[in-house]
Amino acid sequence: MSKDFKRYLITSALPYANGPVHIGHLAGVYIPSDIYTRYLRLRGRDVISVCGSDEHGVPITIKAKKEGITPQQVVDRYHAIIKESFEKLGISFDIYSRTSSPVHAETASAFFRKLYDEGKFVEQTTEQFYDEEAKSFLADRYIVGTCPKCGAEGAYGDQCEVCGSTLSPDELVNPRSTLSGATPVKRETKHWYLPLDKYEQMLREWILEGHKEWKSNVYGQCKSWLDGGLMPRAVSRDLDWGIPVPVEGAEGKVLYVWFDAPIGYISATKELTPDWEKYWKSEDTKLVHFIGKDNIVFHCIVFPSMLKAHGEYILPENVPSNEFLNLEGNKISTSKNWAVWLHEYLEDFPGKEDVLRYALCATAPETKDNDFTWKDYQARNNNELVAVLGNFVNRALVLTKKYYDGEVPACGELTDYDRDTIAELSSIKASLESNIENYRFREALKDAMNFARIGNKYLADSEPWKLIKTDAERVKTILNIALQITANIAIAIEPFMPFSAAKILNMLACEKFGWERLGAMDLLAAGHHIGEPSLLFEKIEDDVIQKQLDRLAEIAKQNKAAEVKAEPQKAECSFDDFQKMDIRVSTILEAEKLPKTKKLLKLTIDTGIDKRTIVSGIAEHFSPEELVGKQVLVLVNLAPRDFKGITSQGMILMAEDATGALRLLQPNEKTNNGAMVG
Ligand code: MF3
Ligand code: ZN
Repeated sequence: MSKDFKRYLITSALPYANGPVHIGHLAGVYIPSDIYTRYLRLRGRDVISVCGSDEHGVPITIKAKKEGITPQQVVDRYHAIIKESFEKLGISFDIYSRTSSPVHAETASAFFRKLYDEGKFVEQTTEQFYDEEAKSFLADRYIVGTCPKCGAEGAYGDQCEVCGSTLSPDELVNPRSTLSGATPVKRETKHWYLPLDKYEQMLREWILEGHKEWKSNVYGQCKSWLDGGLMPRAVSRDLDWGIPVPVEGAEGKVLYVWFDAPIGYISATKELTPDWEKYWKSEDTKLVHFIGKDNIVFHCIVFPSMLKAHGEYILPENVPSNEFLNLEGNKISTSKNWAVWLHEYLEDFPGKEDVLRYALCATAPETKDNDFTWKDYQARNNNELVAVLGNFVNRALVLTKKYYDGEVPACGELTDYDRDTIAELSSIKASLESNIENYRFREALKDAMNFARIGNKYLADSEPWKLIKTDAERVKTILNIALQITANIAIAIEPFMPFSAAKILNMLACEKFGWERLGAMDLLAAGHHIGEPSLLFEKIEDDVIQKQLDRLAEIAKQNKAAEVKAEPQKAECSFDDFQKMDIRVSTILEAEKLPKTKKLLKLTIDTGIDKRTIVSGIAEHFSPEELVGKQVLVLVNLAPRDFKGITSQGMILMAEDATGALRLLQPNEKTNNGAMVG
């Protein structure tokens, strides 16, 4: 089953350039792919890792329209942010390209053209919604109307964001085009379809029989698609943003984004190396696609069918795909801003790139959805990186400095305990390798951390700081072993935490050892001088975490406010009813909390008519100080009421928003007290 490949081609799903990258993307795709790639490089394999921005598709045109800029400006902005943030996190793509590049347009066009010329497509004419004013076909997202399920306004032609129902534009009540507001009409249009049904047999044999080793979530999705029967899929769209369909009479039509984007892997490879064909066209290459679970059908069914139809390309050997990562118990959402954005993290936590890499690998949703919480992030940093890894490395180095002035002591005779420890260490390598090679990165990370756990235990058990007074000779051996373990850690953690691995090497004053030496206990020669020890990781305090939680709480509050529907209108009232109410502009002169109450404030106000007392239940919303001097609107002829023995003569008008927050109503400019409202 396991074949020896001469080279590896690693792809990572091309992120849409309509927003920055967040922790869900990282944990699901980019961190696993980077660990895998770095590991293969360390093993001296011929490997390239390609990625780039996915810059076509309707969401990008919508974003551009919303912001009043061009789609090109949208993708330029996010491509730059994404590329830079990947680099800073140490995601080591050999190339990070983009699908708006000329090489890509050429590659994707030629791909389409070859299939077209060889009759691999079927042409079909269907009816699509069309905007006669804007003279444009309408993607589902460009049609809005009333949701047939929940009655919400502004539901999209493919989905209602209020109730979450999947819709088709036909179902919308009172559909309108977002381009012009016109009512869409049906119009005939011709498109090219890839007849997936023709590849069904090939896919069944290749996946269901040939790749039973794929992760069960991937295999299971493929099986259910195949069992459901495949149908021809359109590979073109009526849109003005994308790669033009390279066929005569196809004006206004572009390649469907899911047709061009995966070809982006090929274009990126072409841009990277003139030798690109050996990676794509040789059975000696192991092609691995790292993706998120919403991409499975495209990478396992559609793209392989395209590759087969083309005929010159290899198929992926594996398509490791993760489940989803949630954030603090809720689904990550770009549109709701419910995410930890990589570029923001890098700003908020400079120097803590590896902490994020570690925390996300440790909580990666490998077999089921998982939850990222800031508390867990903090605990992983403080209890694992600081207390185990950092602590061990620091003790080994500091003691060496202290006892031997930084010179690696010679290893003397080994005790049974030393031998057991060494045996335990040398057994990790095989497990670590097999876990990485089988895409079990969480387990692999535990293996790597085991070097530090074992090292910590070794020092705690053998207590060199006590022995130094009674058996100085023995301490040399203990520290020699502790330093060898430290050097091993620098090898083992490199795929996961490259910055920390480099720091350890720097502190050891060593060059890279090479993966094959992992487990060896002679990495550092006796007499070698180590460099200056410094802390590998720092404790993260509660206030830092609280800041992140506060930020999320604020976003949750805003989202809730945006979701809430206004209360239904009250029963009709006559003009006379309204006229009975005497509302005046007034100024708050004094404000104090009513003793022994939680909610009540006693206010003295100037109504222009008189100065009077009003008791108001707003103490939890406003402090007395912030009220004094404010002009407000007061219903002055409300029947007086007693509160705690104080008579309240009137009511201050306020609006309560969806979050329950109160807002004072004020004249837009200062005016005289007693001014009438009506
Ligand atoms: N942009 C897509 C997404 O974020 C992934 C595209 S992967 C590719 O879901 F293969 F099409 F490139
Ligand atoms: Zn709805």
